[in-house]
Amino acid sequence: MKVISNPTVFSQEYVPERFIGREDHISRIVNIIKLSETSSTLIIRGNPGTGKTLLGKYLFRRLPEFRGFYVNCYVTSTDRGIVTQLLNEAAGKSSDYGNIPSETLFKTLLKRLPQRALIILDEAHSLKRTRTQVVYLLSRSSELGGPNLNLVLLTIEEPEMFLDSSTISGLGKYNRVTLQEYSREELFEIISIGPGQVSMKALTQQMHWRGYHT
Ligand SMILES: Nc1ncnc2c1ncn2[C@@H]1O[C@H](COP(=O)(O)OP(=O)(O)OP(=O)(O)O)[C@@H](O)[C@H]1O
Ligand SMILES: [Mg+2]
Repeated sequence: MKVISNPTVFSQEYVPERFIGREDHISRIVNIIKLSETSSTLIIRGNPGTGKTLLGKYLFRRLPEFRGFYVNCYVTSTDRGIVTQLLNEAAGKSSDYGNIPSETLFKTLLKRLPQRALIILDEAHSLKRTRTQVVYLLSRSSELGGPNLNLVLLTIEEPEMFLDSSTISGLGKYNRVTLQEYSREELFEIISIGPGQVSMKALTQQMHWRGYHT
């Protein structure tokens, strides 16, 4: 089943049937997004290997009524790059916006984004390199004349480390979720899914740090 606009940027090739140890989180987040009649911004923080990117894939799968947009901010970290990628995904084709000023591009994006959009910014902590404004603009889309958007930031760091106070003040206080480290049992269960299906590096590193032996 194809559930996102551009599967090449966010491979759905392997999403395990069961999201071990995270069912409660995913249900809570899905409910927040479904029930938000206006916009919502969610911050999901967790150390490497705690399943943030996988959670993003589940959100697209569990919310097929939303048009999904995915940006890896480590790869695309400038505001202009992010806006261009979203514009191209919204249009379903790749265009070069040449000398068009960034502000104009952002206004165009607000006009082109659909009403039920779910935008995932993965590796969002990378945005501190570029003093981003794009999170502010997207989280206030409806105030700025755009559609209601559901924005999800997946990050290793707390948002205070990479967003300015104006952006932070617009984010809902209660829309923060922390993914704790997996327990020993959960880690073994995840790893038993089998090589080639999970990225063993992130998980075995976690096990190593915590002194577990396979
Ligand atoms: N609960 C889980 N059930 C099954 N597989 C999982 C689970 N959590 C993580 N994995 C698998 O473990 C690997 C690491 O997870 P993931 O990439 O989502 O972590 P991450 O938090 O995004 O890490 P990073 O910060 O390094 O990007 C992936 O292959 C993922 O599919
Ligand atoms: Mg990740």
